[in-house]
Amino acid sequence: MYDYDKLVTHFITSGYYFQGSEIYGGISNTWDYGPLGSEIKKNIKDMWWKRFVQESPTNVGIDAAILMNPKVWEATGHVSTFNDPLIDCKSCKMRYKADDLISSQFPNVEAGKMSNDELMDLIHKSHVKCPNCGKEDFTDIRQFNMMFKTHIGVTEDSQSAVYLRPETAQGMFVNFKNVLRTTRRKLPIGICNVGKAFRNEITPGQLTFRTREFDQMEMEFFTKPGDDLKWFDYWKGKCLDFIGELGISKDKLRYRDHDPKELAFYSKATTDIEYLFPWGWGEIWGIADRTDYDLKRHMDYSGESLEYLDPDTNEKYIPYCIEPSVGLDRLVLMTLFDAYSEEELPDGDSRIVMHLSPAVAPYKVAVLPLSKKLEEKAKEVHAVLSKYMSAVYDDTGSIGKRYRREDAIGTPYCVTIDFDSIEDNTVTVRDRDSMNQIRLNINELVEYLKVKIFF
Ligand code: GLY
Repeated sequence: MYDYDKLVTHFITSGYYFQGSEIYGGISNTWDYGPLGSEIKKNIKDMWWKRFVQESPTNVGIDAAILMNPKVWEATGHVSTFNDPLIDCKSCKMRYKADDLISSQFPNVEAGKMSNDELMDLIHKSHVKCPNCGKEDFTDIRQFNMMFKTHIGVTEDSQSAVYLRPETAQGMFVNFKNVLRTTRRKLPIGICNVGKAFRNEITPGQLTFRTREFDQMEMEFFTKPGDDLKWFDYWKGKCLDFIGELGISKDKLRYRDHDPKELAFYSKATTDIEYLFPWGWGEIWGIADRTDYDLKRHMDYSGESLEYLDPDTNEKYIPYCIEPSVGLDRLVLMTLFDAYSEEELPDGDSRIVMHLSPAVAPYKVAVLPLSKKLEEKAKEVHAVLSKYMSAVYDDTGSIGKRYRREDAIGTPYCVTIDFDSIEDNTVTVRDRDSMNQIRLNINELVEYLKVKIFF
């Protein structure tokens, strides 16, 4: 496994990520996607939409607003329970999540499931020390709600307070009836949404693994109670298939079932798909059986009926819901970590290569004229390819250096324009992984590449 810092440096120097607001010294744990990162992110998002919405016989998509009526978050329990237990070192003023503080020193203790009193008791009895200054002098634990709060309009009173959504999921629950009405569909139905969610994390994670704003791709799949576990297994399989399509190494993936103690209060069953990052296993996709919890709560708080009347049997019930929820930023990060490779070449040279699946690679093809004199022809080829796929043009440095550059960012194909191209309208197409080269007529190029990058 490659060194974490080395990979991060590679991703930043290539233009996958930039530190957010870098010229002002950055802002804690905020990242911008650069020219390469934004392309791969869009490709993975589009692929998810295609598999989970476009090709699905049961599912539809929506694009729900970030700001919602604050009662939504009272109904879901986020206002009262979406909290982190915070504790400060009185001596050096460092702030910690109390459960993380304990787990970092006592990894076998399941601190995440403890009450604040139990956490405090353990901190005193086990002589937990401040990792920064080594002292044992902590404040009491206080609950810190992780939702970002803001205000609508010009006044900042409690009436105008709203939250940035901490999950996209609730957009699907509150629109359940609207979607059924407008699509005239029957159950089961999956409602999908891609969009930003926000959590005021105290301890953000590595690169974009845990950030305060992130893109979720979520589906709420509504089904008849009793059919829920069958669909739970079905979607677990589909999510793993999707990750397989990204070309991720199978030996770095696993399912992890939540044990009953770990389950969220609304969940009957939850399985995470985890990936082995350089720092250990990390959650990529959570698949949860949320039962009828959310619809019931919204019925209680809104006074609206969200029951379903089965037109075939005349049965009336509150549907159960299976939720596969994935962080798009984590999918991108996993894909990049998994693709990185350093290789020795037969001629004694070496290369960094990102073995990205052509379907998600930022640039599908690079157009490389062997001489500046070939610019006109090369630009023509680039313009044609750009109509169908993201193509990059590079005419600086030796051809060997240019191949290395494209390998290092994961461009699967390089098209070289030489003096024969002017004569016979052919070009060389080089494959990134095998480094094999073939000769093709320019007229065949688009069809040849389109098949390779199709998803
Ligand atoms: N909707 C589940 C989550 O955001 O974790």
